[in-house]
Amino acid sequence: MNEDFLLAANMKYPKAEEKAIAYFKALHTQLQEKNYVSTLTNDIHIWKKHHIHYRWNGRRKSKTKHYRHYIEWLNFTGKLDNYLQRSISYLYLRDLGKPLDNEKTQTKIQEAVASVKKRLLSDDKSEFFNMATLYRWSQKYGIESTIIWLFEKLTIVSSNIPVGMDKEHAKRKLIKLIAGVVMHEFEEIDDNLSEQDRQLRLDKAIRLGYCYGLTYPFIDDLLDANVLTEAEKQQYTKIIRISLITGNVPQLGEWVGPNKQLIEFVHQELKAAFEYIKANLSSETHTQFFEQAYIFFHSQEIDREKDLDNEQYTNEDIYVPIILKSAYSRLIARTVLSPETDEGFNNRTFYYGIYNQLADDFADMFDDMEEGAVTPYTYYWKYHKKRKDLLNPFELYWTVICNLIHHIYQSDPNTREVILARAINGIKRFKEKCGKEQYKEVMGIFAPSNSKFNNLIQKVVRQADDVDFFDKLLRDEMIANLRKEQKEQDEFTANMETIRIQLNNVLPIPKNEQTLLLEEPLMDAVNYSLEGDGKRIRPFVAWMMAKQYGLNESAVLPLLKSLEYMHTASLIFDDLPSQDNAEIRRGRPTLHHIYNSAIAELTGLFLTQKAIEEQISLNGFDAKFVLRLIQYSAQKTMEMCKGQALDLESKGKKLTLEQLNLMCFYKTGIAFEASIIMPLILVNEKPSHIEMFKKFAYHAGIAFQIKDDLLDEEGDVEVLGKPIQQDLDNNSSTFVTVLGVDGAKKEMWDHYCLAMETLHQVPQQYGFLKYLLDYMVNRNQ
Ligand code: IPE
Ligand code: IPE
Ligand code: MG
Ligand code: MG
Ligand code: MG
Repeated sequence: MNEDFLLAANMKYPKAEEKAIAYFKALHTQLQEKNYVSTLTNDIHIWKKHHIHYRWNGRRKSKTKHYRHYIEWLNFTGKLDNYLQRSISYLYLRDLGKPLDNEKTQTKIQEAVASVKKRLLSDDKSEFFNMATLYRWSQKYGIESTIIWLFEKLTIVSSNIPVGMDKEHAKRKLIKLIAGVVMHEFEEIDDNLSEQDRQLRLDKAIRLGYCYGLTYPFIDDLLDANVLTEAEKQQYTKIIRISLITGNVPQLGEWVGPNKQLIEFVHQELKAAFEYIKANLSSETHTQFFEQAYIFFHSQEIDREKDLDNEQYTNEDIYVPIILKSAYSRLIARTVLSPETDEGFNNRTFYYGIYNQLADDFADMFDDMEEGAVTPYTYYWKYHKKRKDLLNPFELYWTVICNLIHHIYQSDPNTREVILARAINGIKRFKEKCGKEQYKEVMGIFAPSNSKFNNLIQKVVRQADDVDFFDKLLRDEMIANLRKEQKEQDEFTANMETIRIQLNNVLPIPKNEQTLLLEEPLMDAVNYSLEGDGKRIRPFVAWMMAKQYGLNESAVLPLLKSLEYMHTASLIFDDLPSQDNAEIRRGRPTLHHIYNSAIAELTGLFLTQKAIEEQISLNGFDAKFVLRLIQYSAQKTMEMCKGQALDLESKGKKLTLEQLNLMCFYKTGIAFEASIIMPLILVNEKPSHIEMFKKFAYHAGIAFQIKDDLLDEEGDVEVLGKPIQQDLDNNSSTFVTVLGVDGAKKEMWDHYCLAMETLHQVPQQYGFLKYLLDYMVNRNQ
């Protein structure tokens, strides 16, 4: 253990605490002297000139807060510029810790306003935070590998968030924190920096952002949630504390408790994160990082351990830890990147934190009350009658605002404009959320109407307009989206599982009892191959498409069966010694291993014919369309043979990207195209629609094969049910053998984006295709 380190970290807390106490005392005095009342009254009068509009025909209000409509409405009413100006200024103030009163910052704000506006009003209807948008963004800066790394991290983190924690909030927070760190870096990056240097810096910022961001779901939220037992929490807290004090994550050791698996994952991921941070910061900065992290963690602990039943807390007990935790959480975001200490930044950030904390605690008052959490609001609510010495947090809130505007930001008019808008917005949102009655009750406690100042605030809350902020809209939108996506994805997975089980029951072909001699050898082989544990994606896709046209399950069943028969046949051929020479398929020995190549070939042929027989029995449809379907099916099977031949011919050769795409589309993509298109042929869908889906299938199909190539390289045989490293052994030309893992991943995500972009034109009811695509690239089976 590094003794100096330990000493340094321990020494820093009292020093930081001292500063927080001094700050609190100063605020306390200002509150008692009540000077803030007259100063802010004056400010609010100036401010409201631009925010209260008396109109004889009533105030124009947006009918909706729906993201896109709201932005369109703002633009239509000419409010968009001010809205963005306000929002981005706030971001500079809060997140980047910049004063608004200098020209350089103002220019940057204007540039950001223009670029966000352009993006918002463009035809690009993709969401701000989805994989495709992020990947496209990364291509602009040449940091695709970093974003892919992040995607993989987010996927495993998300699958490890335990039940009992809010998964969407955890994801949103993590993304927000990473974005925050990246934003800091963008601010620092000079326009003259070489492309390569910029790449390096963005790469590092994203990784550091993740490493730091991880501490929120896995330290802060995990300890707040009721997931770990008390004993586990203690054991875990100890590990964190030792890590922050020594700068080294200790071994996990023996873990007793029900959450062993979770803790093992968290421990391993946090350890890697700590090590990355240490390796990438100068020794001076990483000392500073761990010190700040320790102060942050320790103040959180003090705050967390408070008990709402304890009547004895002093005002200092309540406020000092929250001054520290809110300030240090933001200081770290900067330290993680930049070794330079900027006193101005440090001070502004230090004094700013509590403003945010009080706004958040105000907004969450009811939730906190329910959970019995001590915050300035819940504590005051419970004890204000008994304890006349307690500070009213709402009054303190305005004191902080006054202090910020006039002392920290030297009465800068832009700062006044933005902070007051934010404050009024917070109260308006709260009022909307809890309803008039509850709002009245709350205000009765925190802002009694016997004060002129409180009445002024209420009037402004009622009447002021144009106080909305883009980050709030984005936050609501992101949470709503994440929740919707999680729900739809769960439905997709459940659906796929149901269909898979149903198909497993109907795929085997019954034997004909009378001619047992003839049935025996081949039918057993056929059924052996059909009983293997396949994912049944192709018939599942066809069923999902058919469902959109109201087709009946029994009517399309022959089509579904035919697709799986053809696919299984292609796997049997593919595994033959003359082709890929594979020993395992669907978790069992390959067919030719159990029987022999001749039986395997005959089984393959039998199944392709069985597929045609099924198609012919599609008697619920117009015969003309069934014929067209059979013709299409025969053509696609021939094309698949060509693709497979190309694959075998390319062994030992280094194909070009174009050739790889062509080969993969033919050998694999076509089967996905068929699964999507065949139901459309049966209902005689119009050609333009068919083309749109073909384009999707093209990119999705290639992405599927690239993932298959990647799994061959880095998959797990047990999960995969087929051999790995087969392509290398066969000297096959695949995306991975030609481009390497990294290059293959980039191509896969590029096809992912292209497929996703075609979905923008596809009507909403085909939404499952998005989840199909996600599944294709994220699967490990
Ligand atoms: C494997 O297809 C063959 C390829 C086209 C890569 P699947 O991955 O769908 O295999 P099963 O049907 O689930 O076994
Ligand atoms: C298979 O490609 C394409 C087929 C349609 C059979 P692969 O040879 O990569 O498939 P796996 O990995 O053996 O399933
Ligand atoms: Mg093959
Ligand atoms: Mg193969
Ligand atoms: Mg393969």
